[in-house]
Amino acid sequence: MSKLTEVDPYQQFLRDLFHSDDDGLSRLMAEAESEGIPNMSIGPEQGKFLQLLVQLTGATKVLEIGVLGGYSGTWIARALPEGGKLIGLELEQKHADFARKQWKRMGLADRIELRVGPALDSLPQLADEAPFDLVFIDADKGNYPAYLDFAIQYSRPGTVILGDNVEMWGSLVDPGKQDSDWVQGMRSFARALSSHKRLTSTVVPYPDGLAMAVVK
Ligand SMILES: C[S@@+](CC[C@H](N)C(=O)[O-])C[C@H]1O[C@@H](n2cnc3c(N)ncnc32)[C@H](O)[C@@H]1O
Repeated sequence: MSKLTEVDPYQQFLRDLFHSDDDGLSRLMAEAESEGIPNMSIGPEQGKFLQLLVQLTGATKVLEIGVLGGYSGTWIARALPEGGKLIGLELEQKHADFARKQWKRMGLADRIELRVGPALDSLPQLADEAPFDLVFIDADKGNYPAYLDFAIQYSRPGTVILGDNVEMWGSLVDPGKQDSDWVQGMRSFARALSSHKRLTSTVVPYPDGLAMAVVK
């Protein structure tokens, strides 16, 4: 959530060398802005990180919960090998239509399947697709604990589970925001992730806390 639009000189140095959006991604972001898609996708640093994770793990089947306009999905889909598949779950029809249009333009449509509606309605229907090699959770934070349960249920030893925005741009530890469902959900998610017997896990602090776990 929330692409970093302002970066310091060091981040810019790294972006110039490692993390630049190419034409396809730049156009996706520009059209997202002009078509009113909210600016809450991951940044290019995380996109590149996702790409590396897909490649490092040799993932061929990936699940993304929370697709928005398809920015992170593009990084993932491009990293998949021939025959690989990304299944994306997205609540908003407008976001899904936009993402489909972008993926078609970039020649990625054949490797991505989108299911539109609340993820908790779509997830029970994915049992036949399991196991996934990598699951990226980036949707409504209150449901992260439930998404984690599904991710574990649909895993195999070695499956990587990611969850974005653990810090929630400061809200997680803001004393005035502890009653929020999203903060409570994220706290439960972090506790479950850190203590689950089948997981080895951590949180990469930058830029907004990216939870990472591997299933034993
Ligand atoms: C932070 S954005 C995802 C950004 C995307 N992963 C990226 O980096 O390009 C969160 C998305 O989750 C979707 N969402 C929110 N609640 C949802 C739900 N219950 N089920 C499925 N998607 C949901 C929102 O509509 C939004 O598009």
